[in-house]
Amino acid sequence: MSILPILRNASDRILEMDSITIRKPDDWHTHLRDGAMLEAVLPLTARAFRRAIVMPNLAPNPVVTTEDVIQYRERILKALPQNANFTPLMTYYLTDNSSAEEIAKGFTDGHATAVKMYPAGATTNSTHGVTNIQNVYKVFEAMQKVGMPILLHGESLKDLNGNVIDPYDREKVFLDTTLPKLRSDFPELKIVLEHATTKDAIQFVQDANSNFLGSTITIHHLVENKSVVEKSSAPQYHHCMPVIKSEENQKALREAVTSGSPHFFLGTDSAPHPTTSKEKDPPAAGIFSIPSALELYTQVFEEMGKLENLEAFTSLNGPRFYGLQPNDKMITLTKSPWTIASDVSVSNGDSIRPFGFDDDATKRLVINWKLS
Ligand code: DOR
Ligand code: ZN
Repeated sequence: MSILPILRNASDRILEMDSITIRKPDDWHTHLRDGAMLEAVLPLTARAFRRAIVMPNLAPNPVVTTEDVIQYRERILKALPQNANFTPLMTYYLTDNSSAEEIAKGFTDGHATAVKMYPAGATTNSTHGVTNIQNVYKVFEAMQKVGMPILLHGESLKDLNGNVIDPYDREKVFLDTTLPKLRSDFPELKIVLEHATTKDAIQFVQDANSNFLGSTITIHHLVENKSVVEKSSAPQYHHCMPVIKSEENQKALREAVTSGSPHFFLGTDSAPHPTTSKEKDPPAAGIFSIPSALELYTQVFEEMGKLENLEAFTSLNGPRFYGLQPNDKMITLTKSPWTIASDVSVSNGDSIRPFGFDDDATKRLVINWKLS
């Protein structure tokens, strides 16, 4: 008889505590960038994820038209290593002037999977974003008709008087103002509240309990909280939008993702920036988590004693929301601690610092699981 505790998941596969086999996951929110950066980031993404929703906030020109979508997809496919089995799921970047017909047709023709809405100025490369949500109501109508999801950067930048809202309160204001109105104006529009970071967001999604509202949760918001960031010797590498919140919020996120609820799914929001941009003042917002994201999600589920719910979060809930089939292929993670040993080099001379890396080897984040 085995002395290891044995758990069984829904499909009755045996999970031993030092090895877990799940369907290959997808990343429902990732930044691949373009050019040399894309070449560096893509193999690390395809390593762990079969598909990914690719964010359209390229600089200087975001992915706005169907022609942009088609060309960006081609550049991604060209940059894929041979033998990689990876499908990019493309998105449009919503602007005040986006064409409702073009976007809906891009979806029904199979060029794009979703639309991303950034409130103008809310985060990295969001200057072309939406200045007033009424400007894009025609687009939402068309999307609702064809079943195309809208992916929301769920933060309000300014209050009604035009005052800039504190970064720690921006998600809450969005949940109190923009999101309820959007849901009541478009009750059958599929909405993803991207990178939820607060207990209020979790509550909102759980209360809605709707097939039309899902939410991605990043690994960095699960692993870290505000006081961890404040104690860090290099806080610029923990800077992202939405900012990392308090321990109380972190706890709510950890409970939600591991709960087995179908409304939450994996979205790393891995956002690479050259170290030179992260070392600037202010630093570029974005955390590059893709090299260890899947392993760290597994670690969170283990810490919460909920490994049996890992596969739903990483590999089943996302496809279900998007109306896609889950992946066929299985992957195995084993308990085998490691740390990230270096920055990632980019062929143009830049380097990107992964989440968990530190120049001081004793300060590197220990990652307990390894993808076989
Ligand atoms: O921290 C972030 N970085 N948040 C975003 O919403 C965008 C992203 C990026 O593109 O770097
Ligand atoms: Zn993002």
